[in-house]
Amino acid sequence: MHVLLAIGTRPEAIKVAPLYHALRSDPFFSVTTCITSQHRELLQQMLAFFDVRPDVDLQVMQPRQTLADLTCNVLRGADQLLAQTRPDLVIVQGDTTTAFTVGLAAMYQRIKVAHVEAGLRSFDLQQPFPEEANRRLVDVFSDYLFAPTSGAADNLRKEGYRKESIFVTGNTGIDALLMATEIVRRQGHPLPINLPAGAKLALLTAHRRESFGEGLLRICQAVLKLLDRHPNLHILYPVHPNPNVQDVVQKQLSAHPRVYLCAPLEYPGFVGALAAADLILTDSGGVQEEAPALGKRVLVLRETTERPEGIEAGVAELVGTSVELIVDRATALLQGSEARGPVLSPYGDGLASSRIVEVLKTGALTESFSAAPARDAHAAAPAPAKRLRTGT
Ligand code: UD1
Ligand code: UDP
Repeated sequence: MHVLLAIGTRPEAIKVAPLYHALRSDPFFSVTTCITSQHRELLQQMLAFFDVRPDVDLQVMQPRQTLADLTCNVLRGADQLLAQTRPDLVIVQGDTTTAFTVGLAAMYQRIKVAHVEAGLRSFDLQQPFPEEANRRLVDVFSDYLFAPTSGAADNLRKEGYRKESIFVTGNTGIDALLMATEIVRRQGHPLPINLPAGAKLALLTAHRRESFGEGLLRICQAVLKLLDRHPNLHILYPVHPNPNVQDVVQKQLSAHPRVYLCAPLEYPGFVGALAAADLILTDSGGVQEEAPALGKRVLVLRETTERPEGIEAGVAELVGTSVELIVDRATALLQGSEARGPVLSPYGDGLASSRIVEVLKTGALTESFSAAPARDAHAAAPAPAKRLRTGT
């Protein structure tokens, strides 16, 4: 089977990497890997770590380009590539413009499409924007719907998708996370900051389009208030290169002595920081999945989420971009004033890629994914002696 894998952004590189290796190590498949370069530095960082070697690069990234420009450029490039290569199957991952557009180009050429991470729904087209639309559109033209959880599969069945095309695999992102935690455990990976004794560490990421402007400003205000309230708190914030994020965050936070703004971290460094953090604040989809898999609770800086399993399991909490709510809930977690049960990893068990390979080869899945216990975060935490500060 000739499979074309499409990768556009950082999370796609992370979540496709385990599948790339699983497919390439099986002689049943021949694999063409296409990066669109919707992201550039963020993507290269991940491809290098996971040793993913693309065959084709559509080179579409332009600073500040509109979604329509991005869509047109990916569509044109993918259309030409598919006409030349004629794969049996195109695999796209997630909810990005790359996933939607490469899938669309395949459907136009009547090439089968597999959607990895199918069935996620926030039920609000404005949040996350434009991801909720992208993921729904990809599902419409996909022949294989690889749902990470039984909840995602239920969403698909309720929307009338054929049950024969839906497979509950777990999320390939957890396969990648477990690969990385093993490397971090073996090699150790220094935190990019040097924390004084007794300090608490909060890890923050925020990049969603619907938070640009006011939402991001409120997140920054909440961070400053939280630092006022907790004199031993230090914040590590790897800032997304999008100028809409950089401009606000640098202006609001760079002067504070306990905020460490840094360039996006390489994957093992970020995983080490997740494992070491006392508090995780994020609007990222992937981080919502990874934190509970490492036994960590997470505050979600969004009004809604397509990943309700973490909320239902009590390991994630929606706090939106309200200053009061962020400060109150973060304070409660930092003070450890609430009972903490064992954490369940609702999103994957490290076997998602092998389940996908099984389905593509046999048309069936012997065992679906069901929620697994979390890993011990200490396994991935960097040793305190190796904590280094590498600037702000
Ligand atoms: C994209 C995805 C989003 C995903 C996120 C992961 C879409 C519409 N959005 O959002 O679903 O959660 O990636 O991070 O598919 N830039 C760089 N270098 C990079 C990457 C981005 O300079 O390596 C800058 C460029 O100015 C670019 C801008 O960021 O134009 C926005 O990138 P884009 O992919 O459109 O949106 P993201 O916010 O990154
Ligand atoms: N990540 C990383 N370095 C960072 C920030 C995030 O390696 O500095 C990883 C993180 O572990 C997760 C993924 O990037 O796997 C999430 O990417 P992002 O938040 O950009 O996208 P989303 O998941 O929201 O689509």
